[in-house]
Amino acid sequence: MTKPLLIGNWKMNGNLQLNQELLSRLIPKLQQLQKHIDIAVCPPTPYLFQVCDALACTGLMLGAQTVSEYASGAHTGEVSASMLSEFKCRYVLVGHSERRLKYRESSAAVAAKFEAVQSAAMTPVLCVGETLEERAAGETRLIIEQQLQAIIDQVGLAGFEEAIVAYEPVWAIGTGEVAQASQIESVHQSIRAFLSSNAPSKNEDPSQQLPIVYGGSVKSSNAAEIFNLTGVDGGLIGGASLQAGEFIHISESLAETAGSLVSE
Ligand code: 13P
Repeated sequence: MTKPLLIGNWKMNGNLQLNQELLSRLIPKLQQLQKHIDIAVCPPTPYLFQVCDALACTGLMLGAQTVSEYASGAHTGEVSASMLSEFKCRYVLVGHSERRLKYRESSAAVAAKFEAVQSAAMTPVLCVGETLEERAAGETRLIIEQQLQAIIDQVGLAGFEEAIVAYEPVWAIGTGEVAQASQIESVHQSIRAFLSSNAPSKNEDPSQQLPIVYGGSVKSSNAAEIFNLTGVDGGLIGGASLQAGEFIHISESLAETAGSLVSE
């Protein structure tokens, strides 16, 4: 089994100076935890170069927040997977709910981005999750299965062999409202069950090895409880990843649940 994974999604925040200050506080502390967990940060695209430079030789990893589904050409404003890979991006978020909802990215477009990321030898972090209305209508499972099915339609079930899934209930993102333990465990379990039900044989079932992380209002005060839940392999952190102390505490919580003592 791979190490638990923590990803900080900075969203559209930061500037050269703030990034530098944040990284200089994070790097020495987070480096001590790498024996137990993998850690990545996803800055806004213009700062990839700055963060790539700062993370060089630290073992900490870089991610991007989105990518074009196209390889090159007349796509003004877009950034291709091969460009992200030149900046040593290891992960690329695809299908974040803010992109699905605010920028109308369809599940088919998300699936094409997923494929583009893998084609450039990076790991897609597929974000899935339901809105409050969908949950209230009892459609949580259906919605998430549709989001997963779009990937299977594009690249086949084997696409999940080199991927991360992030369960991010839309209603828990940036709201301070965290999903209940039973809700998180049940969705993570249903993601694995759905993928498993699509596998023609046990050997071709990626579901047990697939890392599934949780995102949505994770903070230092609730991280330990979330990371200890069954089937939770790490976290995708928004707001709290912009505060050095918070992100360090969250990382320490994950390292502790990975079963080891954290050095000071
Ligand atoms: P918050 O941690 O701010 O709720 O954001 C979660 C998220 O969207 C990470 O991708």
